[in-house]
Formats: sequence, C-alpha cells, structure tokens
Amino acid sequence: MPAVIVVGAQWGDEGKGKVVDYLSSSADCVVRFQGGNNAGHTIVTGNKKVIFHLLPSGVLHRNTLNLIGNGVVIDPESLQKEIRKVNSLGFPVSPKNLRISYNCHLITPYHRYIDLFREELRGEKKIGTTGKGIGPAYEDKVGRIGIRMMDLLNPRTLQEKMELVMEARHIPKKGDPSRNLPSLKEITETLEQFGKWVQKYLADVGEILWEMWQKNARILFEGAQGTYLDVDHGTYPYVTSSNTVSSQAFLGSGVGILPGTIVVGVSKGYTTRVGSGPFPTEVSGEILKHFREKGEEYGSTTGRPRRCGWLDLPLLRGAHRLNHFSSLIVTKLDILSGLKEIKVATSYSLRGRTTLLSPPIRSDLWEEVEPQYQTFPSWERIRRKKTIRSLPSAVREYLAFIEEQVGVRIPLVSIGKEREEMIGDWNPFRER
Ligand code: IMP
Repeated sequence: MPAVIVVGAQWGDEGKGKVVDYLSSSADCVVRFQGGNNAGHTIVTGNKKVIFHLLPSGVLHRNTLNLIGNGVVIDPESLQKEIRKVNSLGFPVSPKNLRISYNCHLITPYHRYIDLFREELRGEKKIGTTGKGIGPAYEDKVGRIGIRMMDLLNPRTLQEKMELVMEARHIPKKGDPSRNLPSLKEITETLEQFGKWVQKYLADVGEILWEMWQKNARILFEGAQGTYLDVDHGTYPYVTSSNTVSSQAFLGSGVGILPGTIVVGVSKGYTTRVGSGPFPTEVSGEILKHFREKGEEYGSTTGRPRRCGWLDLPLLRGAHRLNHFSSLIVTKLDILSGLKEIKVATSYSLRGRTTLLSPPIRSDLWEEVEPQYQTFPSWERIRRKKTIRSLPSAVREYLAFIEEQVGVRIPLVSIGKEREEMIGDWNPFRER
C-alpha cells in the first residue's frame, strides 16, 4: 500500500496541519521526519484549538500510531509541555500511541543561546529564526558532536559528550544567566532527568515503520515548514536548517524509498512567510491588512505577524519539481473573498528574460526577480459545499488556472478553519 507524504509548497504555514488531520483519520500511523518545535500546526476540532509543535497531528485520532523519526530535533522541555497540554485537552498521549527514535538529536539551552546570539551578530541581516535553537542543533548533528536520545540512557556517556560539545563550542561551562544559559552541570542534570522520563517512548522508528509497511499499513508522513525553507533548495540563508522537501521523509524516518508513495503539496491560495528573505509577490498597505487580519496571519510558534503576498506560480512550479507532487491542496480560499481583484504571478522577469520556474538557478538572484501578474475576479463568501464542482465559478476558474499552470490536479481545497470546511471528497488512502 503506497504511503502519503504531505509537504508545504511555499514558506511554511500553508495549512499542512489541517490537511494531515483530515488524512490521518484514515491513516494507521503519522510520522514527523524533520524540523523541531519551530513548527506550529494549528488544528481546530469542535470548540478546541490544538497547536502542535513536535507531536504528529495523528494524536487527535484514536488508534493512530504517532512516530517521531530520526530527522527531528527535540527540545525536552517543549516535548513535555506539549504532551501535558494535549493530554489536558482530552487527547491522550502515551507510549501506546507515540514512539520517538533513539537517533533523534536534542536541543538544549546552549543551542537556543547560540541561535539568539548569532541573530544578534547578524544585525540587520538576521534570518528571523524562531529562536528555538534549531540551526545550532542540526550543526552539532552534522558536526558529529550532537547529543542523541540514546545518550540519555547512559549518564557517563552523556557527561562526556556534554563536556566535549561545550568545549568545542566555546560555551561558558558556568553558564550565563544574562542570556538564560544554565551551567553545564545544570543542563546535564536536567537531561538526565528527562532521559528517565522519555525512555518509555524511545524505539527503533525505522523498524516499526518497516514492519507496518510490510503489513500494508496506511503510513502518513507529516512535513513541517515548507519547500522554500529547505536548507539546500530554499532561499538560503533565509531558510531553516533541515531538508523540508518530500525526499526527506524517508531519510528522516529510517526507511528506504517506499514504492508508489503519493506526495501531497499544500499551498495557500495566496502566499505568506515569516522571518527575513526574498518574497517576490509580497504586498503592503490595504492588501496586506486584508490578508493579515482576515487570514489571522500571525505565527503559531512565535506570534510574529506574517508577511503576505499574492500566489506565486513560478514558486509552485519549482516546488513541484523539488517534491514531485501527485496532488496539490489549496487552503484558505475564503481569505481571498471580498477583495477588489486577485492577482497571481504567472512568471518572473529576470534581467530582461522571462522565467516560468523558481528558484532561479542562483539563489542570489532572487532579490532581482520581478513577478508578472494576471488578474482574476474575486468572490463573495464561499458557502460549505461537498464538491469543488459546486463552488462559485470564480473560485473554480482560479483553481483550474493553478492546476493548468502548475501541472498538478487539485482534488481538495479548504475554505475555513473547521474540519468540515475541507471541500472535495478525496482521500488517497481510500482511493486504493
Ligand atoms: P529556524 O527554523 O527557527 O531556524 O528559522 C529559520 C527560518 O524558518 C525563519 O525565517 C523562520 O521564521 C522560518 N520557520 C521555521 N519554522 C517555520 C514554520 O513552521 N513555519 C513558517 N516559518 C518557519
């Protein structure tokens, strides 16, 4: 049975959480494979709003196994807090429905310390990170000095590794209270305590997945961030520190390429990004106000206002190349209602030439691209319907144009926050 990967086609916050929630009702397991608590997936169910940072959104469904793969970096405090919160909302989390890879790297206070310090050093050129220590944790991983979950099980190994990393990183062992940095001793003790608590969740995630796959289980990979925040393929250096594109699903979870996997891209009907970096279709003034207020465009993790802009087709075409989408899901179409007109970037003009595909080969040229627009009529309020065919004709024309231009079908759209506001009776797990 083919697996399904859900990834963001833009700069994150596309509404992946909602799509994963919709699909996970028919999945046997949901897997996170990259990123950490920089992610923020908001799901509204009934009168409850749940914001996930680290946990796979499958915890909202009984009988779904949730896996956190080796590609994820874990902040102990954040994980414990989130489990407590989700439990208190009435969704039980225990080793019965959550397993975490022994290979996951940990985020500790010195990673946050380095993250914030670097941002200060960069001054005006700051990345605008979430300040969660994500970049420095991945640096330790590839630098082969990182602390992994399995290290927590042996206090001597943990002590030795902590000494090494603090020295290699020139981190003051006595801490720095002015920057919220505890001492080496305090960090090690906290990690030891966490190790005792977390060990019941630890498992060989790749092995579990492999067995499930062989038993024909329905496996859903839940991406975090978005294509253009990918450390290799995004708008470097204004990116996150993991690979966010679909091929990372396998690397970050411990199985090889699962044949026939379906890749689902998620895009808003417009574009947003948080933090610094190029954004060709960015808007300001009244249109920005419309998107930000109506779309509640504030980061789920940091609360920062998001930058907003028109839909960008070169960006989506590039995302298709990088992820090879089987389908595209378009969210927040309701936010485009009530505008005078809707603009869509169909191509970029770059140094006198027209280009249909982003990213331009050289990411340093991003700042120079000038989007070329086509204009569409807007629509009034969209009422809940069962099928895309019964949506207003202006909405259907908009969607048909995107399908044709990107070359990917759009079998499902979202027109509001509620679960019932996903339109189109499509579920890749049911299709088989
Ligand atoms: P970091 O991942 O905290 O290092 O932040 C690097 C960049 O990625 C910043 O521009 C963040 O705003 C952005 N970013 C990280 N996670 C997310 C996310 O889940 N949604 C949107 N942007 C994100």
